Amino acid sequence: MAEEERSVQVYLDGLTPHLSEELWLFRLTGEKGNVPIIKREAERLLTAVLRLKKPCRILEIGTAIGYSASFFATLLPEARVTTIEKDPDMYKAAVRNIEIMKLSDRIEILFGDGREQTEMMKERCDGPFDMIFLDAAKSHYKRFLESALDMAEDGALIISDNIMQHGMTANEPELPSRKHRTNVLKMREFLAFITEDPRFSTSLLECGDGLAISIYKKHEQD
Ligand SMILES: C[S@@+](CC[C@H](N)C(=O)[O-])C[C@H]1O[C@@H](n2cnc3c(N)ncnc32)[C@H](O)[C@@H]1O
Repeated sequence: MAEEERSVQVYLDGLTPHLSEELWLFRLTGEKGNVPIIKREAERLLTAVLRLKKPCRILEIGTAIGYSASFFATLLPEARVTTIEKDPDMYKAAVRNIEIMKLSDRIEILFGDGREQTEMMKERCDGPFDMIFLDAAKSHYKRFLESALDMAEDGALIISDNIMQHGMTANEPELPSRKHRTNVLKMREFLAFITEDPRFSTSLLECGDGLAISIYKKHEQD
């Protein structure tokens, strides 16, 4: 981040009240441990959006240590969050942290792959959800969303984080590895899906590492 940009972030951070001291300490711990939790500027934007939308049932794919799930539950005291994590160490850390945050009664953590878990949730008739937050393997966003959409209600908010992949998504494929190129192509395919399919009204934002905010219209024709 350029020096000028950094000073803007520091200034805005200084003016932003903490939702709770516990959540602030949780953020600092995550940042110190280099856990890829939601960026501060993305959190500021989502705070405004979610205060307007006030979702009650949130599905998150990609828990990591449980920071964003705790942010949602702290910001929205009426909301229940279901979050999915496939890494066993992250999952254990999230369970512990959410207990420490005293949010276990409103945050359910499922262990496993995002797609497999959403398919199992559908079999259990879970949902409906009025918000879906995608924040796991970037190359799987389309399949995560396609699976989770059956549980989304009309007008649901779909938030996709890290869509720019440190700028790589916008850059032509002089990328270091085949894995990077695949991730870029998959993300572009996902972005084409949420911008071209008439069921979504999508805004693509530079905020943080890139954020897509979509509104899902269940009954729009394909
Ligand atoms: C960017 S981190 C999530 C950060 C978290 N949402 C936050 O802001 O606090 C992405 C997480 O997704 C998990 N993940 C990656 N692929 C996954 C998959 N297929 N299913 C579920 N979780 C996955 C990773 O293990 C990692 O912990």
